[in-house]
Amino acid sequence: MAALKNDRLLRALLRQPVDQTPIWIMRQAGRYLPEYREVRAEARDFLTLCSTPELACKVTLQPLRRFDLDAAIIFSDILTIPDAMGLGLYFSKGEGPRFERPVRTESQVAALGVPDPETELRYVMDALRLTRRELDGQVPLIGFSGSPWTLACYMVEGGASKDFALIKGLMFDQPQVMHRLLEILARAVTAYLNAQIAAGAQAVMVFDTWGGALSHRDYRDFSLSYMARIVEGLARENEGRRVPVTLFTKGGGLWLEAMAETGCDALGVDWTVDLAKARMQVGKQVALQGNMDPCVLYASTARVRQEVDEILKAYGRGSGHVFNLGHGIHPTVDPEKVAVLVDTVHELSRPYHTEEE
Ligand code: CP3
Repeated sequence: MAALKNDRLLRALLRQPVDQTPIWIMRQAGRYLPEYREVRAEARDFLTLCSTPELACKVTLQPLRRFDLDAAIIFSDILTIPDAMGLGLYFSKGEGPRFERPVRTESQVAALGVPDPETELRYVMDALRLTRRELDGQVPLIGFSGSPWTLACYMVEGGASKDFALIKGLMFDQPQVMHRLLEILARAVTAYLNAQIAAGAQAVMVFDTWGGALSHRDYRDFSLSYMARIVEGLARENEGRRVPVTLFTKGGGLWLEAMAETGCDALGVDWTVDLAKARMQVGKQVALQGNMDPCVLYASTARVRQEVDEILKAYGRGSGHVFNLGHGIHPTVDPEKVAVLVDTVHELSRPYHTEEE
């Protein structure tokens, strides 16, 4: 395997010194790129893109051609696991992801099995292996999964939800069924991420998009504790290098200390968080990834540069910061603004990484 030419991301996630702050962007391969829309139109639909390793690899690499990004993230989706569990994932226009067979009863939960990553999810592993080869050490490749709680939200609701009526009803009335579902998912996610690491993922991230919808206590019991089990079960080294693990709970700003206690290497933070305060809270324990409001990319170039400056200043001197948006990039953003963002982060961050620390 080719040696890594740019390892800023891996170093920053482990709080090791870097020359400039690394940046990648959640959903960096997506609809805001005309070349993505072109490949997606040829593939007919999003799921074909995900399940065809050559196409997944192709779109994974697209943003790296345009921008000086410090990482690639494998093009896939968090809902591959429930799909492999037999729920029948499909995307309906304007509605987002849906499942043909949602899971709502004790017997439906009992019937679920842990998918074998190298058979049922082999297309993801093949996409990772192919992309690693194509990257040829240019930048590290990130693997990912949804958190058990976030996957359960889609599995029980049958798709996106605004009020979480069904899953919270289940959680409050039948907590033992909820726990059983989350336990199976934690096992599935652990196996899936370990297989991704074996297939070449050099860092992994757990997306807990809906953890922020929970109360303080329920977050700990129904989301965080299962992410902690996953962190414990992961192979933390491969190819002689540590594989950093990042946890990202959207809306999880109040729980950063508890999240850091899981033993993960880094925390993703959304834009509601003050990075300076967050660093004080978790400083030596974990790195921080984030946290520009994705909508700043709708503002002028000067305003984007100013916002980058503010975020770099908030984190301050030294390593342990990976620049990112606080959530996925919106499909209507002008790619030119992304180029400004990436170059500005590199340019303005250099003084924060000079010797005397
Ligand atoms: O970051 C990347 O570039 C990697 C690719 C990636 C996708 N989904 C591709 C995708 C990642 C990391 C995800 C994670 C994901 N998927 C999450 C967690 C992160 C988050 O955004 O909160 C969630 C909740 C999902 C589930 C999902 N998949 C939804 C809600 C949607 C519809 C979103 C929309 O805007 O229509 C998807 C589809 C999806 N996943 C798209 C992409 C690029 C859009 C597909 C398309 O229409 O081309």
